[in-house]
Amino acid sequence: MLVSGMDILLKAHEGGYAVGAFNVSNLEMIQAAISAAEEERSPIILQASQSAIAYAGSEVLALMVRKMAEQASVPVALHLDHGTDWDVIMKCLRDGWTSVMFDGSKYPLEQNIEITNKIIEIARPMGVSVEAELGKIGGVEDHIKVESRDATMTDPDEAEEFVKRTNVDFFAIAIGNAHGVYKGDPELDFDRLKEIKQRVNIPIVLHGASGISEADISTAVALGVNKINIDTDLRQAFQQAMHKVVQDTPNVYDPRKMLTPTIKAIKEVVKTKIRMFGSNGRA
Ligand code: G3H
Ligand code: ZN
Repeated sequence: MLVSGMDILLKAHEGGYAVGAFNVSNLEMIQAAISAAEEERSPIILQASQSAIAYAGSEVLALMVRKMAEQASVPVALHLDHGTDWDVIMKCLRDGWTSVMFDGSKYPLEQNIEITNKIIEIARPMGVSVEAELGKIGGVEDHIKVESRDATMTDPDEAEEFVKRTNVDFFAIAIGNAHGVYKGDPELDFDRLKEIKQRVNIPIVLHGASGISEADISTAVALGVNKINIDTDLRQAFQQAMHKVVQDTPNVYDPRKMLTPTIKAIKEVVKTKIRMFGSNGRA
């Protein structure tokens, strides 16, 4: 069934586990992720960025996810990832997305709070939950590019103020995490995470989680991360599977035969992450 993002994340916050939010942009990725969640008996969040929406269409993505979620035996939420454009956010609300992120991390605190509140005012009566971000996550995620020298960690005082003044549903933080492929080993500031969680006491979101070790993920979950965003690991699984198909069977030209191994590869990654995040058996 299709549920609101908050339905899934409130349970995770109370139960002390995290749920994967997997970036999707086509039919096959949605199929792979939902079928992984069903096999693991896990709730799942499917999310798409503004550029994925430009690629596939907000309505089409929503209809595909809604239909497959209705047929699924586990709860599925559909989330707008890194919404920066007011019109896209409003369109997602109209098209039936069940949570939206407003990424106001490039704005000063006051402006970020102000716009987040405007979105919450519209989204909440529609039953749509809202994610906000404070601090600047480094790296590249579709249309968001932050040089490492411009990345800034989330300040716990500001985090507390932000959450008090917005009452936002879930909260994305920057603690040394970065989008895309990490250069070297990621170094997460767990003390900062612990302090922020204690002070805001709502579901925390970890972006840029591809490439973070299992040990660090476990620590982050133990300290209060409840939504973990995965994009790059899925893209790489897709690329490797597709590369192998083309290399091993150069005469195959049926898209279904070419894409089936990519579905399997993505599904395996999603299953592994679900177990790592501790949401298996929670549906
Ligand atoms: O918003 C999406 C993510 O934060 C994904 O990051 O590509 O590093 O997994 P990633
Ligand atoms: Zn992100």
